[in-house]
Amino acid sequence: MGQIVSYARKGAIGFITVDNPPVNALSIGVRKGIVDCLAEGAADTEAKALVLICAGRTFIAGADITEFNKPLEDPDLNAVIAALEDCPKPVIAAIHGTALGGGLETALGCHYRCAAPSAQVGLPEVKLGIIPGAGGTQRLPRIAGVQAALEIITSGDPIPAAKAHALGIVDEIIDEKLEGAQAFAEKVVAEGRPLRRIRDLDDKVAEARDNAAIFDEARKAVAKSKRGFEAPQHGINAIEAAVNLPFDLGLEREREIFGEALFSTQSFAQRHIFFAERQVSKIPDIPKDQSTLPIRSAAVIGAGTMGGGIAMNFANAGIPVILIDSTQELVNKGLGVIKKNYAGTVAKGKLTQEKMDHRMGLIAPALSFDAIKDVDIVVEAVFEEMDIKREVFKKLDAICKPEAILATNTSTLDVNEIAAVTKRPEKVIGLHFFSPANVMKLLEIVRAEKTSKETLATALALAKTIKKVGVVVGVCDGFVGNRMVHGYVREAMFLLEEGALPQLVDKALYDFGFPMGPLQMSDLAGLDVGWRIRKRQAATRPKDERYAEIGDLLCEQGRYGQKTLSGFYKYEPGNRNPIPDPEVEAMCIAESARKGITRRAISDEEIVKRCVYPLINEGARILEEGIALRASDIDIIYIYGYGFPVFRGGPMFYADSVGVESVYNDICAFHKEHGKLWEPAPLLERMAKEGKTFTMG
Ligand code: 3HC
Ligand code: NAI
Repeated sequence: MGQIVSYARKGAIGFITVDNPPVNALSIGVRKGIVDCLAEGAADTEAKALVLICAGRTFIAGADITEFNKPLEDPDLNAVIAALEDCPKPVIAAIHGTALGGGLETALGCHYRCAAPSAQVGLPEVKLGIIPGAGGTQRLPRIAGVQAALEIITSGDPIPAAKAHALGIVDEIIDEKLEGAQAFAEKVVAEGRPLRRIRDLDDKVAEARDNAAIFDEARKAVAKSKRGFEAPQHGINAIEAAVNLPFDLGLEREREIFGEALFSTQSFAQRHIFFAERQVSKIPDIPKDQSTLPIRSAAVIGAGTMGGGIAMNFANAGIPVILIDSTQELVNKGLGVIKKNYAGTVAKGKLTQEKMDHRMGLIAPALSFDAIKDVDIVVEAVFEEMDIKREVFKKLDAICKPEAILATNTSTLDVNEIAAVTKRPEKVIGLHFFSPANVMKLLEIVRAEKTSKETLATALALAKTIKKVGVVVGVCDGFVGNRMVHGYVREAMFLLEEGALPQLVDKALYDFGFPMGPLQMSDLAGLDVGWRIRKRQAATRPKDERYAEIGDLLCEQGRYGQKTLSGFYKYEPGNRNPIPDPEVEAMCIAESARKGITRRAISDEEIVKRCVYPLINEGARILEEGIALRASDIDIIYIYGYGFPVFRGGPMFYADSVGVESVYNDICAFHKEHGKLWEPAPLLERMAKEGKTFTMG
């Protein structure tokens, strides 16, 4: 293996090349290497300027996140950047791929920056619950202005090279090749440009010195757009320090805030999610080189709520898709909804008319299954009835080419039973999209007993192609997400009987960080769906099991949620804002009376425990049964499918952060008080007794 950082000269330009795959993270070897090569370059009398450049797919993508939990070895990044800044020769960063976090900070320590047109730069630290810790909050406002720095640092989103150029972050756009960097460096030398240190610039921060309102506004905006997240607020404080303090003091302030953020629960949670997201597609028994089938064409059966959205996913990814329903009218209706969805995106300026037309052109309606005999994958999204699904799969098996994958979007039915009606059970898989399927990022990939590794690997690859987060789950009623959510909503309804009103329950969970509480979520999903399931289960429900009738009572009155403008709340036409409804409040009070429950004041803390702890308890069962591969997969499902607050790391990480033993003790207390629905999961009990955690190793 070559050196991680090496020095070589071409003509009058010395190149310091970082080669630390996969993303050139700033591990200790890279930090030391840059300092050493910089000294070598400074001492090389033939070199008139130095270029810091990276091998592989990207410029430095940031600090090495895996080193965060270990003691820091010298030199730290600030020392590396100081060495760059103090170099007696011009140092130029040559950026390709992504210069992120510590990577951009390193580039900002150079005297000049050039970038390939496809490059991106950004300070994504807030996404890890921290702030830039190597001068990013001090140098970026000095070079790009305070407003731009606020946006880049609080959003964490990268910006393209052209925008970085316009903001002054990048001095020159070069072609993709090494030669471009060399030519720019030669130009710097030829023009005798000065050693420009960003730390010495003041005009852009001076502008904001008399404008405290800029920070107040940023704080207010972030409190709304990043509700509950601490790091963006920390970022604003650090930028304010850049404006009001001399550079070195500002840098110190940044360091203090960085250190505080690094050891916060939020940062541990967000870093957990960063790695969980990358872990999720790694399946223990599927080798890295597992062959996959190419997906060049698709079909969706059923042009209803889900089918339309699923078809859009294929079209968005440029994959032609045939959309089938049983009558021309139904197909047309489905296509009409798709068109309306796209048109809405065009109206918002987020899609061009041309792209919309192209995507619509990729969706071909059909009535007969004969039209789909050559497609690579079929996703079935017909009614949730086993007999209908079996019929559809028999037909598909007979008509589709033998290599084709047959997927079902069922949310509750047994995928093994569906696979069994075909002669190709190894090609049958569940692809459980979430509603609205064109928006929600989560895809539960249901691995049935006979699903082949190739089929599974193809589904995982397809998830990436259509920009979903695919999580592999096993077969059981409700899979992972919906199986867990059952207890969450159930407890919300019990709380209504015990003394809370819908708005109180929902507010507690909104304040916890969910985008909306369980009752508003139920109104959005449609109360009739659960009602139908509960009616089916009524015969087998144990007589001594606690049951809240409120959901059923609402449905009996035709209150199906938002779609009927009434559910747990009432709604104005065309407005999703829930309005507390005295009728529902009266219903809650009447239910308490009917059941002989004395209504009591219920704290937000109890509401959160009552609703969130069932997620953890069921999650533990799911883990023990092997339905989910890892606790972190469950966390990903909850974050992408249900809006669980990222800064709490998902339900299983949340259990760890509260303390598994403490969660277990509360669950035992609830078990005693509210009965057997609260029986602690055996795994939870064992972990509590053995002092183990779900996600912290
Ligand atoms: N440190 C350690 N490992 C990292 C890393 C980092 N900063 N960034 C990526 N990796 C690892 C990933 O975990 C993954 O490992 P795996 O193959 O074992 O799963 C591998 O590199 C490839 O990463 P991706 O799968 O994400 O590759 P992509 O090509 O899809 O994306 C990327 C590349 C855009 C660079 C993306 O990896 C990314 O966004 N990385 C994080 C960037 C970041 O947050 N930087 C800031 C770090 S904090 C910091 O710099 C603090 C400073 O202010 C002091
Ligand atoms: P829907 O009722 O909106 O759409 C079903 C469509 O399938 C209808 O247009 C119907 O005409 C068509 N259809 C029925 N039988 C057919 C057949 N034999 N051939 C061709 N078309 C046929 O239902 P929805 O909500 O889209 O659900 C579809 C599937 O997706 C179900 O299995 C459901 O459990 C699942 N699902 C639903 C979610 C939701 O939130 N609605 C979420 C995730 C999964």
